Amino acid sequence: MTKQAIFFLSLLHVFLFHCTITCAQAPDITQILDKYGDFKVLIRLLKNTGVADQLNGELAKSNTGYTFFAAPDKAFSELRTGTINKLSDLQKVQFLQFHILATYVTLTNFQTLSNPVPTQAGDTTAGQFPLNVTSSDREVHLSTGVVNATLGTTLYSDNNLAVYQVDKVLLPLDIFSDYKPPEAVEESTPPLAATVDKSGAVTLAMHAMFVLLGIAVNVGAVLGL
Ligand SMILES: *[C@@H]1O[C@H](CO)[C@@H](O)[C@H](O)[C@H]1NC(C)=O
Ligand SMILES: *[C@@H]1O[C@H](CO)[C@@H](O)[C@H](O)[C@H]1NC(C)=O
Repeated sequence: MTKQAIFFLSLLHVFLFHCTITCAQAPDITQILDKYGDFKVLIRLLKNTGVADQLNGELAKSNTGYTFFAAPDKAFSELRTGTINKLSDLQKVQFLQFHILATYVTLTNFQTLSNPVPTQAGDTTAGQFPLNVTSSDREVHLSTGVVNATLGTTLYSDNNLAVYQVDKVLLPLDIFSDYKPPEAVEESTPPLAATVDKSGAVTLAMHAMFVLLGIAVNVGAVLGL
């Protein structure tokens, strides 16, 4: 063998060896999300709960793949304050697992899913962890019974893992059956104008009477009555 041939073969060898280490490596969910910069809340939750390690481990040995719905920081900021923080550790895990399907779903395959779609959170019966997927006009909608979300861009896809952005945090019924979005609460308090119209005149009249009464008492006190 010539020197060039040996050199070439050893190069090939180095490349193949390198490839068995890195090419076959399963994707890491937090690394995927980290590239985008606006999934900080989700990444922190995935790490703190151990769900990231769990998913990465499953990805490494899975042959049916996984689908992950990723809500950006903006979606988390639209939740009522403390919504996620007040959950127990178990609920946080279930909440995150609700964003994971144990099957690789391509964009065109969403319409083939039958509702309710099972998530990693488990039980799909009413009031538990049902997730409905509907497709219309190239849009995919997700309904949890608490929120309706729309599928956004594909953040990552190989033949084993698909990561899609969603515009809302997916709140499962089991944990959030009495969740009220911040806007809904503002709407339920009566508008200011209505309060004034109904009782403002009376309140003002009463107030004037008390002021007069107060003056009368003070005057009385000064005069020594
Ligand atoms: C999901 O769809 C089923 C039937 O298609 C319906 O009975 C159920 O109420 C829906 N649930 C949610 C959370 O949208
Ligand atoms: C979700 O969509 C359904 C049907 O389109 C609607 O009845 C329901 O009020 C929506 N829920 C929310 C929280 O927007």
